[in-house]
Amino acid sequence: MRFSVLTLFPEIIRQNIGSSITGRAWENGLFDLETIQIRDFAVNQYGKVDDYCFGGGTGMLMMAEPIYQAWQTAVNGSGDCRRRTICLSPRGHVFNQAKAAELVEYDHLILLCGHYEGIDQRVIDEVVEEELSIGDYVLTGGELAACVVIDAMLRLLPGVLPNEEAHIRESHTNGLLEYPQYTRPAQWRERSVPDVLLSGHQANIEKWQRLQSLYQTLQLRPDLFNRLKLTEDEWQELILLHKTHGNRRNVN
Ligand code: ADE
Repeated sequence: MRFSVLTLFPEIIRQNIGSSITGRAWENGLFDLETIQIRDFAVNQYGKVDDYCFGGGTGMLMMAEPIYQAWQTAVNGSGDCRRRTICLSPRGHVFNQAKAAELVEYDHLILLCGHYEGIDQRVIDEVVEEELSIGDYVLTGGELAACVVIDAMLRLLPGVLPNEEAHIRESHTNGLLEYPQYTRPAQWRERSVPDVLLSGHQANIEKWQRLQSLYQTLQLRPDLFNRLKLTEDEWQELILLHKTHGNRRNVN
């Protein structure tokens, strides 16, 4: 998998992706990442890449031509392959786990990071196939959003996570939030690990984990919970859990 990030701030991308688990995967050649400095294609010798907005407004807009040339450089660097150009923007569809799984099927992703007040629409119309947002708030630029998208995808690539199974059970992968997890010591400041997890009874443990996942989702993300289909048994157990533990979340 190859990523080309078109940006005015390549260091943000390189520092983020170059750290921790993604950094190790990068070193091990599990993916290719290039950053293309849009300013290298500035329209004058002073590095100009932005200009005033037609129709007024206070901010500056990124110009079409430097972005187009940066994009051409990314395209020329990859042969005939499944390629997609995405612009990170607060007006895009909101990125989620399903989108990460969809995008990981491409061979080459070109990610365009906007800055200033936005980007000349004509270059968006010319090269961008999809706009993605990472949430309903406005960042100073698309770089952090690009890192979020890349990171979520990299976790799905074989060999990137130390424990391949990890992403199957995690929050959002199956439309559920993750169940609570505990490590040693079994007793910590009056709080103990639920008995079932110490029982060694795998079937009971998995049943407990599933129920807890359902419960976390119900409590924290009712929007996700409403999309689930529960069995009659699961409803009964959930109601019971709510009656017995419903108000004890932060109580010893
Ligand atoms: N650029 C600025 N805000 C953004 C957001 N919320 N998502 C993606 N790109 C952005």
